[in-house]
Amino acid sequence: MSNSPIRCLISAGPTREYFDPVRFLSNPSSGKMGYALAEAAASLGWFVNLVSGPVALECPPGCLRTSVVTGQEMFDAVNGLFPECDILIMTAAVMDYRPVERSTAKIKKDQLSMNIEMEPTIDILKTVTLQKTRQMVVGFAAETNDVEAYALRKMEEKRCDFIVANQVGQPGQGFESDTNRVLLLSPDGLHKVIGPDSKRAIATELVSFFNSKLRNS
Ligand code: CTP
Repeated sequence: MSNSPIRCLISAGPTREYFDPVRFLSNPSSGKMGYALAEAAASLGWFVNLVSGPVALECPPGCLRTSVVTGQEMFDAVNGLFPECDILIMTAAVMDYRPVERSTAKIKKDQLSMNIEMEPTIDILKTVTLQKTRQMVVGFAAETNDVEAYALRKMEEKRCDFIVANQVGQPGQGFESDTNRVLLLSPDGLHKVIGPDSKRAIATELVSFFNSKLRNS
């Protein structure tokens, strides 16, 4: 690869799926890992497009942010930017299902069904990588158990060159935390533990690893 700036696309944060204007299904993702990666990438001189779900974080200096809410909006943004990027890093915690019906008016509590019918949302990573050409693709895997086995399966199914696996559901790791410990895996057998450390330090290490891979490809 030449010395021109690396064009990077990062997704971060949660998505929300509303069933009326004031109620939604989501998850506790804070976006911290994705934003730390965006910051680390921009500080290496990469051109960074950050597609972000609703989070309470400032856009890191030097990054271009597209704010989205639903999985479909995140798909549209990521899909549109993917062809022009050199590397996609998909940290977003995308809701896997959404209510089949979305009421335009607030549903009164005595009229709300206790069984909301759901349908799957689009798998953004699995779908955009169908059009993968030269891009390096990095997935994330959030698991409560059997972390490595599930992450390896996701890496293959979603056509990733690397997957960053992390355990969630415990204090000091994963969602909302400032610290993390991750396992970086590749289809050719890379098995690298990074952390426990701050999400910033882990992001710096990951980005410098991807930088050297892209520069030497
Ligand atoms: N992902 C995605 N679109 C979805 C769900 C997940 O692009 N609808 C991406 C995530 O951004 C992440 C990877 O796929 O890079 C794995 O996400 P994760 O939530 O760990 O797994 P899921 O595929 O949702 O599977 P499961 O919930 O069964 O673990």
